[in-house]
Amino acid sequence: MTAVDARPDTTTELRFPAAFRWGTATAAYQIEGAAAEDGRTPSIWDTFSRTPGKVRNGDTGDIAADHYHRMREDVALMKQLGITDYRFSVSWPRVQPTGRGPAVQKGLDFYRRLTDELLAAGIRPVATLYHWDLPQELEDAGGWPQRETAQRFGDYAGIMADALGDRVAAWITLNEPWCAAFLGYGNGVHAPGRTSAHASLRAAHHFNLAHGWAAQALHSALPATSEIALTLNLHAVRPLTDSAADLDAVRRIDAVGNRVFLEPVFHGRLPQDLVRDTATVTDWSFVREGDLEAISTPIDWLGINYYSPTVVAAGSSESPSPWAGAEEHVRFVPAPGPRTAMDWPVDADGLYDLLTRLSEDLPGVPLVITENGAAYDDYADPSGEVHDPERVAYLASHLTAVHRAIESGADVRGYFLWSLLDNFEWAYGYSKRFGIVHVDFATQRRTFKDSARWYGDVVARGGLAR
Ligand code: NOJ
Repeated sequence: MTAVDARPDTTTELRFPAAFRWGTATAAYQIEGAAAEDGRTPSIWDTFSRTPGKVRNGDTGDIAADHYHRMREDVALMKQLGITDYRFSVSWPRVQPTGRGPAVQKGLDFYRRLTDELLAAGIRPVATLYHWDLPQELEDAGGWPQRETAQRFGDYAGIMADALGDRVAAWITLNEPWCAAFLGYGNGVHAPGRTSAHASLRAAHHFNLAHGWAAQALHSALPATSEIALTLNLHAVRPLTDSAADLDAVRRIDAVGNRVFLEPVFHGRLPQDLVRDTATVTDWSFVREGDLEAISTPIDWLGINYYSPTVVAAGSSESPSPWAGAEEHVRFVPAPGPRTAMDWPVDADGLYDLLTRLSEDLPGVPLVITENGAAYDDYADPSGEVHDPERVAYLASHLTAVHRAIESGADVRGYFLWSLLDNFEWAYGYSKRFGIVHVDFATQRRTFKDSARWYGDVVARGGLAR
C-alpha cells in the first residue's frame, strides 16, 4: 500500500460496505398511468380511487407520472444518479388482467423493455410482485380474505418468473402486506375499503400464504442466483412509560403489526398471544394444515420499509381501526419532534432500534431497507430549481442510523430510497411528494431536486460526507 492509499479518507465520514446496494423504489400504480392500455384491466385501486371521498381531490392513477410512456427517460435519470439497483413493481392486472389464466404479452413486454433498459444502464432490477393493485375481478370473487386469491397469486408469480427470471436479480413477493390487509380490509382507508377486523385477519393469513406459495413457485422456476424476499412495514413500537400496562400495549401492537407476519414466515408458527388477543374476532380456523410450512419457505432476505416510529400507552383508540381489536387496549401517543408533510414524526432512532432488534430476533437473515424517505411540500422556484433541505436532512439522519446499526452488527445489505419520482400517494393522491425527482404533473416535466444530487453523491462515495 502506498502512503497515499493509507491516508484516511477525511471527506467520507460514514463509509458503507463495498457491496452495499444503493437504490430507489417506486410502485406500478403510483407512477405508470396508462391504466386502460394494452389490455390492462382495473385493479382495486382504480375502483377505489374512482369512489367519491376515498382519495384526496378525487385523484386517480390513470396518468400518474406517465412512466409507462416515459420509462426510458426515467431509467436515464437513475443512470445519471449512478444508483446500483431499482425496485419497481409489476402491475398484476397489466400482465394477467383477470388474475387468472394466460398472461397478456403486451403487459409482459413492458417489463421486459424496462428490465432491458435497466440492465443496459448497469442497474440491477429488483421486482415486487404485489404492491397493492389486486385485479378487481379477484376482489369481486372475495379478495384477500379468500384462500383462492393466494392460489392465484402463486400462479401469477410463476408466470412472472418464467417471463423475467433471466433478468431480474431479486424478487420481492409482497409489499407491506400489513397495509394491504389492515388498511384495505380493517379500517378501509386503502382499497378495497372494507371495514372488518375478521376480514383483515383472514387477509393477513392469506397474504402470508400467497407469499409462501409465490416463494415456492419462484424457487422452482428461477436460477439459483436469484434472490427471493418479502417486504414488511414493521412498526418500531415504543412504550410511553415502562409501566406493565404500557409494555402490554407495545406487545399487542407488535403482535398484530409485526409478528403476525414475522412468526409465520421465519418461525413457521402463529403468534399465540395474537391468537388469544383476537379470540373474540376469529378462531383462526382459516389456517389449514400445511399452511405454516408453506409460509415458512426459506427466503434470502427481509425487506424493511421504515418512515417513523409508533409510541403507545395503555388506553383505547377510535374505531374502525386497523388493529383488529387491539385499539380497545391501546392509545397512540403523538411522538415529539419535527414532522414531515405526512405529519409523520422524524425519528431515525426508530430505524436503528428496528434493525438491531431484527438482527437479534432473526439471526442469519440479511436485511435490506426497501423503502425510506419523506414527503415535503416541494415546489420549483422561479429558476426551476427544487430545494429540499429537509428531505436531505431526513435521509442523512436515517442513513446514519443504518450505518450505526451495521456497526452494531446488523447485516444490512442495501438501501432503497422512496421514491425516485413524485407520485400517487394512495389516499393522499398527488398532494404528497416523496420523490427526489420533482414531477410537474401538468407537463410531466422531471427535475432533480437537491436531494437527488445529494443522493447521487452518497452513492458515488459509498457513504456520507461530513
Ligand atoms: C409505503 C408504500 O409501500 C408506498 O407505496 C408509499 O408511497 C410509501 N410507504 C409512503 O407512504
